[in-house]
Amino acid sequence: MNKTILTALLAFCTASTATWAQSAINLTPAPAEMIVGKGEVVLPTRLVIGVDRAFGDSILVEAQRFAEALESTMPGYSTAAGINPKRPFIEIAPDAKLASEAYTLDIRKNKITIKASTTDGVYYALQSIKKMLPANVMAGVKAEGNYTLPIVRINDQPRFAYRGFMLDVSRHFHGIDEIKRLLDIMAAYKMNVFHWHLTDDQGWRAEIKKYPRLTTVGSKSQNCRITDMEKGTYWTNEPYGPHFYTQEEMREVVAYAAERHIDVLPEVDMPGHFVAALASYPEFSCNPRGQHNVLTHQGGVWEDVLNVGNPRAVQFAKDILAELCDIFPYPYIHIGGDECPTKAWENNAECLELYKQLGVDSYRKLQSHFIKDISDFIQTRGKHLFVWNESVTCEGADLDLIRESGSTVMSWHPCQQGARTAAELGLKTIVTEYHSKTGGYYINRRQSKDDPYDGAGYGDDTVRGCYEYVPVPEDVPAELSKYYIGVQATFWTEWVSNTDYLEYLALPRLICVAEAAWSPQSKKNWEDFKHRLTLDLPFLDYGHYNYGKHWLEQ
Ligand code: ACM
Repeated sequence: MNKTILTALLAFCTASTATWAQSAINLTPAPAEMIVGKGEVVLPTRLVIGVDRAFGDSILVEAQRFAEALESTMPGYSTAAGINPKRPFIEIAPDAKLASEAYTLDIRKNKITIKASTTDGVYYALQSIKKMLPANVMAGVKAEGNYTLPIVRINDQPRFAYRGFMLDVSRHFHGIDEIKRLLDIMAAYKMNVFHWHLTDDQGWRAEIKKYPRLTTVGSKSQNCRITDMEKGTYWTNEPYGPHFYTQEEMREVVAYAAERHIDVLPEVDMPGHFVAALASYPEFSCNPRGQHNVLTHQGGVWEDVLNVGNPRAVQFAKDILAELCDIFPYPYIHIGGDECPTKAWENNAECLELYKQLGVDSYRKLQSHFIKDISDFIQTRGKHLFVWNESVTCEGADLDLIRESGSTVMSWHPCQQGARTAAELGLKTIVTEYHSKTGGYYINRRQSKDDPYDGAGYGDDTVRGCYEYVPVPEDVPAELSKYYIGVQATFWTEWVSNTDYLEYLALPRLICVAEAAWSPQSKKNWEDFKHRLTLDLPFLDYGHYNYGKHWLEQ
């Protein structure tokens, strides 16, 4: 910033940029820089939004969507968006110097100016405006309100490029209406990757045309455990499913997410956590004549894994990924790789043969070779892999092969060891801490030791523990920290069968991770965040989200 502008801004500023001053404005995640001015601006009831001609049509589309969102929620307001219209109140102009998701937002008495270099940057500026207006606007609900904005100047950009949320839909299925509700929350808090854990031992949830049994067989199980917030936990003793998404539904989710600047990262967990697929196609297991049933135990680690020594089984995996590559435009695909026992390979003639052929010294290396092979395959489709951290933390793994695969390592447990090992290999890494003495990002765990409902965990999984977890420890040197490209809130559904309980556990911790993903570490402050979160409760209430309230006492 040049000196003259800085002096002018300081003159205009009545509050300092100290953390507590930020609370005067309800904006979560906290922006990178914010200078709060004096007073507020009342939005004109005829609101014109002007897009600079130098910007393309995609920005006009954003401006029009924003205009429609305001008009449909603010009674008595009419809005219009156009290219260089007369007397715009909000002006959107390009600034090529800004980073891809960065924006500046200057709100003055008579004009609001947005600058960005991309559609993403403009979108995040518009989201910030919506977020600072009364909560019904972001919630999409029409309500009378005091439609003012604070006088403020914001220079903002995210801390991390990857700001993720994972939902497991295998252990319990959650339909696309619920997924859209969660995408709405992600968008409100500027998260940008929805990681969709589509398959596991307890159910296959993605339609694959070449292999129909994956859904006619793999999406059903013989029993199901329900946790109901009123009735408690019980087994239904009835079949569960078929529950799966058609390809059309997956495309619908991709489109809904894209409108909110969210990419969808599909995960097909393999070669372990693959029982639902093997129940559908036992010929690709290590014991084709054995019993293979979709599991009803809602969690655990199982020895029934893909036969990586059988070329037809490996081709099965590739065929599945090929269909998903066509549905999901995101240039990455996640193949899991967590918690894969090698025992079935040790007792299988084809795997023994492969072991000898490759001249390896550990069965774990068969998994490393599988990852490299799959990576080579999906690169022919212009995609790259994500894998869980076991690919680099399991004893016997071939780290050279994983490095060559160029995979992004999603690190959960041991989280910091996995992330650091990945970075030392020159691989990008995402931090999604399972559980540590100082908190974590597995937001399906119970958030209070007094929680009356059944579920996973309870340790330092409080909302505060989640908020205060430090994803990149201070002792990670800069040459490694550049590989830490993101953080993720992760939600497993072993215990979570319905929407109420899902939202109760996920919220508000999802918002804690959103702030970790966007705001500089130096701007984070629990008391300040808690204050802003309290101001956000009307937003959650407008959407009828069920959220945990334990944090109000933390
Ligand atoms: C995991 O939690 N098994 C990735």
